[in-house]
Amino acid sequence: MPIAAVVFDLYGTLLDLHAMEGPVADAGVDDASGFVREWRSKQLQYATLTSLAQAYQPFDDLTVLALEQTCAQRSVSLDSSQRRRFIDVFREMPAHADTAPALRALAARGIPRAVLTNGTPASAEAALTHAGVRDLLDDVLSVEVVGAFKPDPRVYALATERFGCAPREIVFVSANGWDAWGAAHFGFRVAWCNRAGGPAESLLPAPEVTLGGLHELEAFLARSG
Ligand code: LAC
Repeated sequence: MPIAAVVFDLYGTLLDLHAMEGPVADAGVDDASGFVREWRSKQLQYATLTSLAQAYQPFDDLTVLALEQTCAQRSVSLDSSQRRRFIDVFREMPAHADTAPALRALAARGIPRAVLTNGTPASAEAALTHAGVRDLLDDVLSVEVVGAFKPDPRVYALATERFGCAPREIVFVSANGWDAWGAAHFGFRVAWCNRAGGPAESLLPAPEVTLGGLHELEAFLARSG
């Protein structure tokens, strides 16, 4: 079956979340990488909770609430400019080094490329533009029109609606194991981008392929047709 599009998760997949550690460390916060991990984990937990409770709030708002909760948990107090800097950095993350080459390789083969993100359209567009990769994508799809977060199947359906295809005609790429699972459950072909070499999720279905980075995507597509 031909590939109608390759669809990417945004934060952590195309964009490098580790960049958030710099401003956190600059603010004198101990264990910046642990802080960022906890912030991210709380953000995703809030996304899951509000989805399940049918109490959607924009991802930007959850990002701020998750930051406040992480600060409270770790007894970190931020002044208003540090707080603003932490939030801004979420809009200013660089792309991973392998992002632009992977998108260019797909473009050269004429394969449509899109993002499907829990983020708001404005923040996702701003982040991709800031990272210099927006022009390499055909579209940016956001959960906002659904009012629920991934892994709600209605969100993954935004991609099949956009490209007018069946789930099996989309290759979905995510660095998040939970998102890879949700996408595989929806019926996408899934490439889990496991840069950190972490253990696979126990939930099935498993991704079709596990990549060490986006640099391995083109070879996978060439192999699998
Ligand atoms: C996204 C987050 C969840 O871009 O990584 O959807």
